[in-house]
Amino acid sequence: MIFDVENIRNDFPILSRNVNGKPLIYFDNAATSQTPQQVIDVIVDYYSNYNSNIHRGVHTLSQEATDKYEGARQIIQKHFNALHSHEIIFTSGTTHSINLVANGFAGLLTKSDTVLVSALEHHSNIVPWQMLCEKTKATLKVIPMTQEGALDMDAYDNLLLLNPKLVFVNHISNALGTINPIEEMIQKAHKVGAAILIDGAQACPHIKPDVQALDVDFYVTSGHKMCGPTGVGMLYAKEAWLHKLPPYQGGGEMISEVTFEETTYAGLPHKFEAGTPNICGGIAFGAAIDYMNSIGFDAIASYEHELLEYATGKMNAISGMKIYGPKENKTSVISFNIEGVHAYDLGTIIDKLGIAIRTGQHCAQPIMDFFGISGTARASFSFYNTKQEIDVFVEGVKRATMMLR
Ligand code: ALA
Repeated sequence: MIFDVENIRNDFPILSRNVNGKPLIYFDNAATSQTPQQVIDVIVDYYSNYNSNIHRGVHTLSQEATDKYEGARQIIQKHFNALHSHEIIFTSGTTHSINLVANGFAGLLTKSDTVLVSALEHHSNIVPWQMLCEKTKATLKVIPMTQEGALDMDAYDNLLLLNPKLVFVNHISNALGTINPIEEMIQKAHKVGAAILIDGAQACPHIKPDVQALDVDFYVTSGHKMCGPTGVGMLYAKEAWLHKLPPYQGGGEMISEVTFEETTYAGLPHKFEAGTPNICGGIAFGAAIDYMNSIGFDAIASYEHELLEYATGKMNAISGMKIYGPKENKTSVISFNIEGVHAYDLGTIIDKLGIAIRTGQHCAQPIMDFFGISGTARASFSFYNTKQEIDVFVEGVKRATMMLR
């Protein structure tokens, strides 16, 4: 089947704007994705027609907003194939979701416990666990990476002999695009009795995870990476974990009874959703998932793979090019440096040509330290990008390289 990218591009108003006098080429999708009109319409509809607080009003607007918000939770539940909708907790994003879980484990770990983090993590899946280990005095061990930019699975096997309590790893690396073997990692973690959290922020724009098939304990992601707005995300956790973990924040809506002597907490999912949530964001997150499913994740993955192969071939032909990360088993991310060219300078020059990429450490300093570099330039493609855009980008990179060398 032909992937009708031109038709899809019409859904994204931002793609027809100019930047610095040139048509925008947006290759910073791993940082945040663009928003289709279908999702923008949902946001406008919310504020135009039924903006109100949820779960606490008898009036019509509140009921409409509550229905849509809880409807979005069900869309998310269905998309990730969670057993119950109350296993989906709305958060402000992946970072919030991880902090919620890390905070919850503070009372469950002691100084004799070990937890494992992978060397391929974003800072958001490192720092909350370091903070947890500071509090509990538990030991944090690192699953090392290979020169190819994959996880060292033999080392993982050895670290599991330490009987860790928890493992946290990303599904896909934001800095390199590596797809980690999470199915195997989850099974192995469970064999030694460890719980496992998967950071799916970079996976969910490309893959449709099935949390029951994965048998994962915690899976977290953000709406804005997958055509939704910023400021909303989700935590999936198995029901038993949500009963076991204490609430993250106290406040309205997360309680059952409040007296000055004692407070009891609300049932799931409200126990973890104190305060007025990002109502419009949650509803729009659901709409974004519907939008992506209307295109289809198989079609998205195969088209993006085509873009990746096309771009990799063209970029490898540029002299002095070094692409970091695995050659296979990766998503549509190209993290690179060119001999004699600073990534920041490259990014600044091609911005003048209307091309947006990310440069720097990508919130993953340990990966950059591993390769002994200060950062990379990163082009990340989405299903609304085209081969023609890649051609313009590659020419832009060549021009910038000539100017900078
Ligand atoms: N985590 C986002 C990125 O990789 C911001 O760019």
